[in-house]
Amino acid sequence: MVYYVKQGKIPRYRHTYDDRKNLLREELFGEESFEGLYSLLYHRNEPTRVLDIREVAKKEFDPSGENKMIHRHLKTSELGRTGDMVSGRRYLFYNDRIRIGMIRPSVRMKGYFRHAICEQLFFLHRGKATFSSIFGTMHLSAGDYLYVPKGTTWTMDGSDDLDILFMESKDRIDLPVRYRNGYGQLREGTPFYTRDIVHPLLDSKPFIPEKPEVMIDYDDRYLIESRDREIYDLEGWDGYLFPYSINISDMAPIVGKLHQPPPVHETFSGRSFMVGTFLPRLFDFHPRSIPISYYHNNIDTDEFLFYSSGSFMSRKGIEQGSITLHVRGIIHGPQPGAIESAIGAKSTDEVAVMIEAYDPLLLTKTGLSIEDKTYMKSWIG
Ligand SMILES: [Fe+2]
Repeated sequence: MVYYVKQGKIPRYRHTYDDRKNLLREELFGEESFEGLYSLLYHRNEPTRVLDIREVAKKEFDPSGENKMIHRHLKTSELGRTGDMVSGRRYLFYNDRIRIGMIRPSVRMKGYFRHAICEQLFFLHRGKATFSSIFGTMHLSAGDYLYVPKGTTWTMDGSDDLDILFMESKDRIDLPVRYRNGYGQLREGTPFYTRDIVHPLLDSKPFIPEKPEVMIDYDDRYLIESRDREIYDLEGWDGYLFPYSINISDMAPIVGKLHQPPPVHETFSGRSFMVGTFLPRLFDFHPRSIPISYYHNNIDTDEFLFYSSGSFMSRKGIEQGSITLHVRGIIHGPQPGAIESAIGAKSTDEVAVMIEAYDPLLLTKTGLSIEDKTYMKSWIG
């Protein structure tokens, strides 16, 4: 993160105490050993009070075995509701660095969760949610991105219509480096401002599940940590590493005289991906502009798009909740008739999330089960 947050009661100096009779237990929560971003957390109890750790088998996603490189269209509205915010993760695409899927939960979370290996990014397509973590509580609504650092212990509860796109990444999920000046502050001219970034509030009352157990995701298995005291036990914390959210309605899309390429819509980035957000915006203002994308050959990336709301001018057969994957090596762009009907349009109300993956994305069995197999033919009229 690029700003400092202080919440609750913390000692005047780090690594010291203020009240010897009520000692707080300091934890350094940090990435990249002791070199990366970190926060200092002050617990009422020793955070190491673990009664028992047991291993539980994890059913990972099923690769579809279909490694054919073709453009794909998935209809996520065909996914039923299942599980909770963790067991309900339905992986659709994956590579060695990232995994992408949908969560449409049918039941509430009954325990705490921590991902030991991956950073997590959520996009609330529909519904409302309360995200509680050791850092405090955040109230989320449709259009919110939620970033959760790996190692964060959390719970999430939401409305019955909750519908979430998620990405898990072994690489750090961050704000684009080019959006920051040499001092770390977001530069003037970026599509959002520091003020739009929301951090957890420690004084909110967290959602407490029945059992103090934490399910820790190690990618290939779960470890269940049983504890004997409250888990959200911080008196205070400060630092630069914490979950945060940004709502897309607070973003200011960049527009131009001519068609703008996707990187101007960048929101998050990492070593193996870029996440962008297409927002309602005015179209290009050249008198003879073609306001939708030209044909493009993504030589080095696979291009994942989640269509959240609005009308999607350049795509036939796409509905809200659709996903397309346009793979490297095969040119894609407007379907027949799309350019003709787009000329003269002044604005778009589309909302879509793009993930450009630098390593090829493969399809899971769940993804294959909701695929519209006619999509590759949609470019021949
Ligand atoms: Fe594209």
